[in-house]
Amino acid sequence: MLELNDIHTFYGPIEALKGITLKVNQGEIVCLIGNNGAGKSTTLMTISGILKPKAGTISFIGSNISDMPAHSIVEMGISHVPEGRRIFSRLTVKENLEMGGYVKFKIKSSKLKIQLEKVYEMFSVLKEREKQLGGTLSGGEQQMLAISRALMSEPKLLLLDEPSLGLAPIIVSRIFKAIKEINEEGVTILLVEQNAHAALNLSDRGYVLENGRIKMHGKGKELLNSEEVKKAYLGE
Ligand SMILES: Nc1ncnc2c1ncn2[C@@H]1O[C@H](COP(=O)(O)OP(=O)(O)OP(=O)(O)O)[C@@H](O)[C@H]1O
Ligand SMILES: [Mg+2]
Repeated sequence: MLELNDIHTFYGPIEALKGITLKVNQGEIVCLIGNNGAGKSTTLMTISGILKPKAGTISFIGSNISDMPAHSIVEMGISHVPEGRRIFSRLTVKENLEMGGYVKFKIKSSKLKIQLEKVYEMFSVLKEREKQLGGTLSGGEQQMLAISRALMSEPKLLLLDEPSLGLAPIIVSRIFKAIKEINEEGVTILLVEQNAHAALNLSDRGYVLENGRIKMHGKGKELLNSEEVKKAYLGE
């Protein structure tokens, strides 16, 4: 479904991605793990078109998307939940969700309403709080809102950047359960996580990033049992 081939991405003179090659098959949950600064967020931003690679190609369902603007990439079916959530704190829950749908659907379109009902079904707390300002939600609720906003454009592929960051363990399990449910409804997922143990458990496959390069990849369970991964990323 998604293929990155030898991607190099720079911040000015700094080469953050030094030749990333990876793929995500339709229906999979794939995770990217690695230490701070490894290039995980940069990889997601390069896929969603926020950053442009200097070299390499990205193909999505057979089309080359490396030169497309970010809004066209959303229309193609890729939705990105950035690190730190970035919800609109002064808009209501409902307005935040509608913003997520506008790129793809027109304001007041019936499709928008249908999507809204779908996400309310998944996260009923958002329905209960639909008139509340985004900024007044708890951290966990904000993460649910950020994920739901991304789902409003009816993505085929969802990019999630550290959804569990800063959340209490019980909320983390709720979020991971939701990721599984979203996947079971047919959305393919590329997940970035510091919480390597939970991420590898949930994922079909995983890639380990180190200093802008892929260091290892394999099935989730294989990586969980790898001595190297255990030592470096699982604290075992
Ligand atoms: N705006 C920027 N300007 C310059 N360098 C940047 C910028 N953003 C990121 N970098 C650098 O690019 C590298 C990769 O950063 P990135 O944010 O992708 O890492 P990450 O794996 O997501 O880390 P974390 O786990 O801390 O979120 C780091 O060395 C970082 O310092
Ligand atoms: Mg990051």
